[in-house]
Amino acid sequence: MELGANSKEIRDRVNELFSAILIEQQKFMQVKAPSPEKHDLLQNAVADLQKYRGQEAIYPYISSGRGHGPFTELIDGSIKYDLIGAMGVNLLGHSHPLYIKSHLEAATTDTMMLGNLLPYKSQLNLNRILLDSVKGTNLKHFWFSGSGSMAGDTAIKILWQKTAPKYKIISFTGAFAGRSLGMLNITQEPSYSEGVPKTFEVLTVPHFDYHDPQNSLANTLRELNKIWDKEQDNLSSLVIELVQGEAGFVFGTREFYRGIFEWAKEKGIYIFVDEVQTFARTPELYAFQHFGLESYVDIVTIGKALQTCGTFYSNELNPRPGLLGGTFAGANSSLVAGEKTVRYLLEGNFYGENGRIHRLEKTFTSKLQNLMENELTGKISDVRGIGLMVSFRVGDGSKDLTFRVLNTFFKNGLICYKGGKNPARIRFLIPLSITEDHIEEIFKIIQDSINEVL
Ligand SMILES: Cc1ncc(COP(=O)(O)O)c(C=O)c1O
Repeated sequence: MELGANSKEIRDRVNELFSAILIEQQKFMQVKAPSPEKHDLLQNAVADLQKYRGQEAIYPYISSGRGHGPFTELIDGSIKYDLIGAMGVNLLGHSHPLYIKSHLEAATTDTMMLGNLLPYKSQLNLNRILLDSVKGTNLKHFWFSGSGSMAGDTAIKILWQKTAPKYKIISFTGAFAGRSLGMLNITQEPSYSEGVPKTFEVLTVPHFDYHDPQNSLANTLRELNKIWDKEQDNLSSLVIELVQGEAGFVFGTREFYRGIFEWAKEKGIYIFVDEVQTFARTPELYAFQHFGLESYVDIVTIGKALQTCGTFYSNELNPRPGLLGGTFAGANSSLVAGEKTVRYLLEGNFYGENGRIHRLEKTFTSKLQNLMENELTGKISDVRGIGLMVSFRVGDGSKDLTFRVLNTFFKNGLICYKGGKNPARIRFLIPLSITEDHIEEIFKIIQDSINEVL
C-alpha cells in the first residue's frame, strides 16, 4: 500500500475503513425488485437528469453508489445484474476490493486530479507496468488522456507529425473511435456527427465479413490497393479495432489481420490499433497479443477497464516537444486503480487458453448457442463472442425489437446494451466478478425475458 500521509494510525484506519466498506457493499448481492415507496424518487430523478442534460436517458437508471460484484443498486432500491459496466469501465465488478483500496490510498495524498507538469508516483507506477506489459513490441512510450477519444486524437496528432504532409487515414466499415472532433471523422455512425463538418479525410475499407469469411482478406486488400493507386502520396496511417465494439463485436482471424498489416508495412503505412474497448477483455491483455500481431503495432490506444486512458507509441513516432500536453493526467484514484488492475490481471489466472476470460467466453457462447438451438429456437441467432465480449441477435435484429428486449431485461434485473445496426445485437461486457450461480440466474432472466417479448 503506497500512501501519501502515512502513519500507523492512518494505516490502521484505512484498513478498518476498507473492511467496513467492503462488508457493507457485500449486502448488495442479489437481484431485488424496486421498493414501491421509492418508485417516484427514481422516476423524478431521471426526469430531472433528462431536463438538465436536454437528452433522453436510455435506461431509467441512477445508481445509489452501492453494489457488489456484478450487482448494482438503483436509488429505487432495486438491484440488477450489470453486464455492461458503465460501457466497459467496471471490468472487475462493483466495489471490487482493488477499487475501494485505490480510493482510500488516493485519499491519503494531497491532491485529487494529477497534472502532467508535476507528476506523482501513481503516474510513474502505471506507466511502468503498462510499458512492461507490451515488452516485445515497438511500443516504448505512453501518454495519459482523460478519454478514449482524446487518446485517439493524441494518436492521430503523433502520426501526422511523423507523416506530414501525408494526412489521410484508412479505416474500416463499422468503426467507432469516439466522439471528439477528430475521432468523429473515423466513427461511422452518421447520427453521431449530424451537422458536424468532417475535419480530415478517412478512406474506408471492409472489415471482416461473416457472410464471406474465405474472401474477406482478398476483398479488403483489393479495396486497399485501389486506395493506394489513387492516394499513395497522401496516406498517413491505418486505424483498426481488432474487435469492433460498438458494431456488436465484429472481428476477423489472425490471417485477416496479418494480411492487412503486411500490406500496410510494405507500403510504409503506420498501424494504429484502437484497444479502448478491447483492452483487458480478450484472452490476452491486448487484442493485438491475442491475434499474434505484436510485431506490427506502431501506436495503440487503451481506456475503459484501465480506469483511465492513454496512447502507446513507438520510439520512431515519439513526437517533438510541444505536441503532447494538457493539464490533467487523470484522477489519482484512477491511476492507482489502473496500476492495481493491470497487476492483478497479469498475476492472476485470467489470460491464456485456460484462463478465466477464455472460460467465461466459452460458457456464455455455449449457453447462448444452446438456447438458440433449443428453448429460444427462431428467437435468437448469430451468437458471437471473444473473451468478455459476447453478443447475439434477437428476432430480425430491428432496433425497436432489440430495445424492447433490453428494456424487459432491465425490468427483470439484467442490464446490458445494444451494438451494431441493421441488424442490431444484444451486447454483454461481462465483469470478472461473475460466478457460476450468477450465470445460471442471468440465463434464466434472458430466457424468460425473450419469451415475454416474443
Ligand atoms: C473502440 C473505441 N474507441 C474509442 C472510444 C471512445 O472512448 P471514450 O468514450 O472514452 O471517449 C470507444 C468508446 O466506446 C471505443 O469503443
